[in-house]
Amino acid sequence: MTVSFREVYEVAQRDPERFWLAAADAIDWMRPPTRALHSDRAPFYEWFRDSELNGCFNCVDRHVENGNGDRLALIHDSPITGTQSSLTYRQLQDATARLGGALKARGVEKGDRVIIYMPMIAEAVVAMLACARIGAIHSVVFGGFAAAELATRIDDAKPKAVIAGSCGVEPSGIVAYKPLLDQALSIASHRPDFCIIFQRDIQRGELVPGRDLDWNACQDGVEPAECVAVGGAEPAYLLYTSGTTGKPKGVVRPTAGHLVALHWTMKNIYDVDPGEVFWAASDVGWVVGHSYIVYAPLVHGNTSIVFEGKPIGTPDAGTFWRVISEHGVKTLFTAPTAFRAIKRADPEGRFIRQYDISSLKSLFLAGERSDSDTVEWAQRHLGVPVLDHWWQTETGFTIVGYPWGAEQIPVKTGSAGVPMPGYDVRVLGTDGEEVPDGDLGAIAVRLPLPPGCLPTLWNADDRFRESYLSEFDGYYETGDAGYRDEDGYFYVMARTDDVINVAGHRLSTGQMEEILSGHPDVAECAVIGVHDSLKGQLPLGFLCLNAGCDRPESEIVAESIAEMRNQIGAVAAFKLAVVVDRLPKTRSGKILRSTMVKIADGTEWNMPATIDDPTILDEIELALKRLGYPGN
Ligand code: COA
Ligand code: AMP
Repeated sequence: MTVSFREVYEVAQRDPERFWLAAADAIDWMRPPTRALHSDRAPFYEWFRDSELNGCFNCVDRHVENGNGDRLALIHDSPITGTQSSLTYRQLQDATARLGGALKARGVEKGDRVIIYMPMIAEAVVAMLACARIGAIHSVVFGGFAAAELATRIDDAKPKAVIAGSCGVEPSGIVAYKPLLDQALSIASHRPDFCIIFQRDIQRGELVPGRDLDWNACQDGVEPAECVAVGGAEPAYLLYTSGTTGKPKGVVRPTAGHLVALHWTMKNIYDVDPGEVFWAASDVGWVVGHSYIVYAPLVHGNTSIVFEGKPIGTPDAGTFWRVISEHGVKTLFTAPTAFRAIKRADPEGRFIRQYDISSLKSLFLAGERSDSDTVEWAQRHLGVPVLDHWWQTETGFTIVGYPWGAEQIPVKTGSAGVPMPGYDVRVLGTDGEEVPDGDLGAIAVRLPLPPGCLPTLWNADDRFRESYLSEFDGYYETGDAGYRDEDGYFYVMARTDDVINVAGHRLSTGQMEEILSGHPDVAECAVIGVHDSLKGQLPLGFLCLNAGCDRPESEIVAESIAEMRNQIGAVAAFKLAVVVDRLPKTRSGKILRSTMVKIADGTEWNMPATIDDPTILDEIELALKRLGYPGN
């Protein structure tokens, strides 16, 4: 008898102990959990607290022990460097044991933090799993972040070691990571004991004697590390994400919960079986990379692709189809922006027809709202279901999606799908009460969140409560707004805070404003996210200069743009800024950012009743026109 997904979901809601302990059977435990949920420290919920396990053992060693050591674990496909390589599960076991041994030999122990700053190479995955092997907590920093962002994370995580690549390779050229690391260490007040540098032949970095070790040399002669027992609720990793201020939030990922939940998703959501090839075209620096390049495919015994390239330009808009056909990819997961880029470069889908992509059975999109044009284009040209799903760094796996492997429920374009097990998702009004179906509201999830979701923020319990739990009593506030339809499908429309989404990357306009106001000539500023047909949104800054400032505006704008790149990094894509005399505000002094967004996007807007001086909006309109908005 087949069980409908609705029944599966209802079991998980009615009897979470039964549901999650059954899901936990898929994991190899050193000490099995006797219960699933521990609520005694609520609202800091813990899953599988009385268990012990090892993440690397579950993702690597057990597949070797089960006779699958020769199966490919990772395929590194790098069109940008013109290279390919692969690692079997056995080779991955060996690589993690040796690097884990090198870390251990230099004093890294269970619970110590290790920062990883690497490009999309297989060694980045080896580094993450080597940490898991010895029970160290890794924190990967995306390569597109600048030294100052890396320094902030070093100071918050206080790592005993940093593992970095010498460089990354972008279409614009080589990005030397090593000097960025050196600069970050000169800014940070915390000092790691040592750094391990993976030297890429394409550009090697200069090692600092006494601090920096070569990746290969430091592994010579060390004793390979065994997998240590880690408490189920202990952190597997920290991943920093944008909040409303310049200080990023350190999302804590608990070891057992995330493996249990991720394993469940591989078949039930993504519809892959062990041994099949799964490709998340993202970066290990983001949560999609953590969950779906590394932990989920490997814990489930799949082959995962580590792709170092872009959807277009490396060398062309056919790269994705080449990778699918060469490696037999069954499921592709990427962000809509990647498909917008491909569609723009190859509107007729000519490249698609040059490859045999018959292995591909479904395309999953997440990271930002999927626009229907892109979804329909992908569906038409690929001939496979295109499935949206919505989740966040904080949750680590799908909140709302299509459980394709459990039941192929009807797909509604524009909707991210239905809630996944463990998520009791509600749409709330400002009074905290549920709004009727079809009405827009804040999307919130009733506590407790399912296994794998953040139990708290690193060393910041108060900030966790304040950021997520304070708005609606008994709920986790997602920061997204949307609505539910009469069939229980959710539509995620926009953020309720000042987070913007640029090419699937989450960025804080609040942080950008802090950087702009640091300019000596800037008296006041505002940053908004404006619509962009490729990246979804782009940040745009308004600068009000100090009285008496007589420097050319263009110089101040150029300096502000350069400073944003210097402080946040290229990933901020901050290239639009304009000087204005005043900012539009309410009578109580709040900047009217959402009205400015509507003017920039050319969407309908009403004069806010609380506006202090309506004439300022004319000035804003003129300033935006100078930048070509609306119209981009
Ligand atoms: N290391 C160093 N720099 C990096 C980097 C990395 N790992 N990743 C990106 N950058 C740099 C880029 O070189 C670019 O710098 P530039 O301003 O000097 O050109 C900048 O950061 C912005 O990068 P990106 O967002 O990738 O924009 P793009 O214009 O180079 O490419 C897309 C646009 C749409 C093709 C690209 O964003 C993309 O492929 N997105 C896929 C979606 C995705 O991976 N989302 C992640 C979450 S699922
Ligand atoms: P991140 O934590 O970087 O993964 O970003 C999470 C945020 O991206 C969410 O809170 C949403 O704002 C947005 N997002 C992710 N997936 C979707 C989706 N499928 N539809 C709409 N927005 C999404």
